[in-house]
Amino acid sequence: MLDSYTSQRENLVFSNGTDELIRIICRAFLGTGTNAVLSSLSFPQYKRYAVMEGADIHEVPHVNGRHHIEKMIDAVDDNTRVIWICNPNNPTGEYVREQELIHLLNSVNQNVLVVCDEAYYEYVTY
Ligand SMILES: Cc1ncc(COP(=O)(O)O)c(C=O)c1O
Repeated sequence: MLDSYTSQRENLVFSNGTDELIRIICRAFLGTGTNAVLSSLSFPQYKRYAVMEGADIHEVPHVNGRHHIEKMIDAVDDNTRVIWICNPNNPTGEYVREQELIHLLNSVNQNVLVVCDEAYYEYVTY
């Protein structure tokens, strides 16, 4: 169902681990006057690297360790460049369901980068 959102071959980026990719994304998309939307209990590097770039953080309170997708959508403004979805979430192990993710993707402007960090996807059971 998410096929229409998958990357084309020419859009692939390779990195030395996911942490480096998070830093590259922040360096490329964030800076003074921009902001990143993230959940309040999530992988700390999203916030750390955004702060290093001088960007603002729109931190949305989590709900029992889960991302509050509706409030994350509400937290987006004209200066938002990146939305961080940690899926499954480190450190809580919760994850965003497919329909929630589709809703998020359909709700935000196409110039906002929605990052779905699936560093621990192997541990998800259905
Ligand atoms: C959600 C998440 N993203 C990224 C990373 C960084 O992964 P890597 O070891 O590939 O740099 C971690 C590591 O704990 C993580 O938990």
